[in-house]
Amino acid sequence: MAQYEWHLCARDAQRTPPGDWLTWLIESGRGWGKTRTGGEWVCERAEEYAGRWIALIAKNPADARDYMIEGPGGILKNTYPTLRPTYEPTKRRLTWPNGSWATIFSSEEPDQLRGFSGDTAWLDEFAKWKNPRECWDNLAFGMREISNDRPRKLITTTPRPLPLLEEIEEDPDTHFYVGTSYENRVNLAPEWFSKTLQKYEGTRLGEQEIHGVRLEDVEGRVYSSFSKKAFPGGNVCDTIEDTGGELFIGMDFNVNPMSAVVAVKAADECHVIDSISIDTSNTEEMAQEISDRYPRRKVIVCPDPSGKARKTSAKVGVTDFTILERAGFTIRAPKAASPVVDRINNSQAMYRQTVQTPDGPMERRRALIHPRAKSLIKALSGLCYKDGTSQPDKGSGFDHPCDAFDYLLWQEFNVLVPVRRPVVRTLRI
Ligand SMILES: Nc1ncnc2c1ncn2[C@@H]1O[C@H](COP(=O)(O)OP(=O)(O)OP(=O)(O)O)[C@@H](O)[C@H]1O
Ligand SMILES: [Mg+2]
Repeated sequence: MAQYEWHLCARDAQRTPPGDWLTWLIESGRGWGKTRTGGEWVCERAEEYAGRWIALIAKNPADARDYMIEGPGGILKNTYPTLRPTYEPTKRRLTWPNGSWATIFSSEEPDQLRGFSGDTAWLDEFAKWKNPRECWDNLAFGMREISNDRPRKLITTTPRPLPLLEEIEEDPDTHFYVGTSYENRVNLAPEWFSKTLQKYEGTRLGEQEIHGVRLEDVEGRVYSSFSKKAFPGGNVCDTIEDTGGELFIGMDFNVNPMSAVVAVKAADECHVIDSISIDTSNTEEMAQEISDRYPRRKVIVCPDPSGKARKTSAKVGVTDFTILERAGFTIRAPKAASPVVDRINNSQAMYRQTVQTPDGPMERRRALIHPRAKSLIKALSGLCYKDGTSQPDKGSGFDHPCDAFDYLLWQEFNVLVPVRRPVVRTLRI
């Protein structure tokens, strides 16, 4: 029956791409045929190599069943009866006639994936998942079995502004495709296009849901006033220069990565000329790196205040602060750590603030960052609050460069210093 003849009806973008890719990422509009493509690819992989173990991962078990397995684009509906796998919901398993099998996993339980050991995984509606990073990391450790082909993953999703998706897209081992709903027009009801989609054309939601465009605004971003667009629309500016004067360095003492942000002052603006991130490192190595990159410069370090007492990696009696002082750097830090929320608010105001001028309100961006400070730009764009909390998500690793810059801004560009008001006493009579 024609319905089963995928090799005849699939569009080119739905066919397994050639090449050495490890991840095939499809981000497209609603109804493009993402789920169908995923189901067909999984069957192809199951049939071509007997005994293959496949991971099918959805937001939750109901989505896996309703869309990936039983839905109109799902595996059961579109496989030829004699090749159709047996579905055992209680075992979360599909078994093909040749002995290949798939296990169903839910993003709500990332630890389930720890036991998986295969070479094929299909991740549907990845951008809606509960714990995408934890699942992605756990899956990576399980993609290791030798077969007729290299381990491969397929992600099919409507786009969302998710930092991890951006990272996967930029990975050189990723084959990336963006598609619009219109590509599948012949297979869907004409009224859906002419009536429903028409209403969303020209809107931001339409860009995402019809045209598969990933919008820039990440939901729940900690530094929402920072924009990686070019100045003056954003904070990234390739014309700022190292003016050769004092260097101001924000530093976080976490050892993996050890993070520093290098800036110069320009009137009341902070110009970041560099960011340094060293994996599994320590304060001595960071001090050496700074001296190597900027020899014979006056360096003022504004670090995490807790480094005064902390001995990250050092010998007895030596603290992070003494290591920096021995390297010839001056340290400026408050006596005690300030509340995280205050530091974030201060940085937010440096990234974008509305100020009153004689000509009316004006937007100012006082923290400008050179594009070479890649690790900082990536971290500021990607750091989000942990789901349902007001705590920045530390699992992403983005918090360290951001913290380093927060310390510097808090120390040298504190726009939140409270204004002293005269004390008014109320006399009780
Ligand atoms: N090349 C094709 N030929 C015939 N039918 C197709 C083709 N591609 C997809 N379809 C059909 O189009 C319908 C929509 O596909 P599917 O459910 O896979 O879209 P989707 O992109 O996953 O949608 P959603 O965004 O809602 O999850 C399904 O019935 C599917 O079988
Ligand atoms: Mg789908």
